[in-house]
Amino acid sequence: MTQPDPSAQPSNQFSTPARLTSLPAWKALEAHHAETEGTHLRDLFAADAGRGERLSLEAVGLYLDYSKNRVTDETLKLLFDLARETGVEAKRTAMFAGEKINVTEDRAVLHTVLRAPKGSTVLVDGRNVVPDVHEVLERMAAFAEQIRARTWLGHTGKPIVNIVNIGIGGSDLGPVMAYRALEFYADRGLTLRFVSNVDGTEFVEAVRDLDPAETLFIVSSKTFTTQETMANANSARQWSLAALKDDAAVARHFVAVSTNAAAVQKFGIDTANMFGFWDWVGGRYSMDSAIGLSLMLAVGPERYSELLAGFHEMDEHFRTAPLEQNMPVLMALIGLWYDDFFNAQTLAVLPYDHYLSQFSAYLQQLDMESNGKHVTLGGETVDYQTGPVIWGQPGTNGQHAFYQLIHQGTKLIPCDFIGFSRTLNPLGEHHDLLMANVFAQTEALAFGKTLEQVQAEGVSADLAPHRVFDGNRPTNTLMAETLTPRILGAMIALYEHKVFVQGAVWDINSFDQWGVELGKVLAAKIVPELGASSEPELKHDSSTNALIRRYRSQRAQ
Ligand code: F6P
Repeated sequence: MTQPDPSAQPSNQFSTPARLTSLPAWKALEAHHAETEGTHLRDLFAADAGRGERLSLEAVGLYLDYSKNRVTDETLKLLFDLARETGVEAKRTAMFAGEKINVTEDRAVLHTVLRAPKGSTVLVDGRNVVPDVHEVLERMAAFAEQIRARTWLGHTGKPIVNIVNIGIGGSDLGPVMAYRALEFYADRGLTLRFVSNVDGTEFVEAVRDLDPAETLFIVSSKTFTTQETMANANSARQWSLAALKDDAAVARHFVAVSTNAAAVQKFGIDTANMFGFWDWVGGRYSMDSAIGLSLMLAVGPERYSELLAGFHEMDEHFRTAPLEQNMPVLMALIGLWYDDFFNAQTLAVLPYDHYLSQFSAYLQQLDMESNGKHVTLGGETVDYQTGPVIWGQPGTNGQHAFYQLIHQGTKLIPCDFIGFSRTLNPLGEHHDLLMANVFAQTEALAFGKTLEQVQAEGVSADLAPHRVFDGNRPTNTLMAETLTPRILGAMIALYEHKVFVQGAVWDINSFDQWGVELGKVLAAKIVPELGASSEPELKHDSSTNALIRRYRSQRAQ
């Protein structure tokens, strides 16, 4: 890696005006970290009886308890200073105003317009794009009503009751996460499936029990060129036409969601059956564009509007609340404190709700594709940590898998716990048991168990060290009353804006993804080599050559 030149001036108009690590707030945070690193959450709570309530924030139906973080009032003050010194507020204004902050692709970043109310105005290249958004939403709603009323008939006259979304990355993770999250509200007479992987097994298993005459495919791809999606879409067409035996069937069994009308048409889908979106919506920020069509079919236009309203309320909170009372800003800065000053490498996101089974997987793309960057907007190599590894799965399953390492391992793993006061499926004591685990885990992580406490329980001297919990392991707890479309929208927007703020402080472009390109290009080169039998044309390194040779010989058997 090239070393940064400390004298270099950022060259981009949206760049932080000076190198991040030389800003006064950064220097002050370094000194503050050195002074307070050893401070235990036990001491912070003991010194301030009101800490648990004082360090909390409520917005858009979400309650954030951030008191179990290794922060003092001084830490927070310095973090807010850092946000101000790095121009977070001006960058936020630039994003909402449609300035082309995605500088490497020369694009505006306007996923917030996807949920802007009808009648508002946001200009892109001098044109108000809000009416375009609502025009597509209305077409989606009309289509959804037909599917839900079973009046959209397949080629043989049978109503469509199976929906298969074909897409990958942002064209899959958002819809699948939100469909699972809102399944409670879904039309249970419809079967929804999601196919993303180029592994043919996924497609074969997804359609195994479906009747082609009752099955609609939604081909979702911003570019309509993605290898995995196109391979699955072609297989879907073959599967469909093999049964329906008429090319005209495509019109009743395929719709597309894309920004690329020409490619949609070339594939054979009538653009009347295409729902568009725009280059100012990034793939991983697109779940509330037409990419959410499968979700709208499942939960209906009304619930979908509630979801958009939740997104919009959080947008407004983020846009207008002062930094100190701004939930995405707060979560971003606390996360950055661990990343950059404690050298924490990961963030575990732990939803205690079965419906949020895909939430961490969704956040992986949102956060890691956005902030997995190593150069600044001005193109200089950073000398600080950027985005963390995001991982996690729903509680309490994780407790019996990986929590041991979080409690007693050697790594600092900040965690976001997510829970609800009311379950959508009351069943005896289950919900109290579930939520007791949320509260117990964050308590145990923060306060641990000292050697003295262990000894006082009469544990033998040789066992005692194994029974000690150091504690001081930081967590956020995010709570809402119950999981509704509005709350889901607010939660997604919360994390979107958190990622934005971190990218703004780190002075990186959170909206491109050049890092996924190289593998794509190399795979396209290798595909034709896999079928060839003659040896000499392999021009890779010796490892890749040997692997391809091995594959060829075993594949042929
Ligand atoms: O993973 C790279 C990526 O470009 C993502 O950003 C995007 O969400 C995904 O591929 C799918 O792209 P498309 O919607 O164009 O098929």
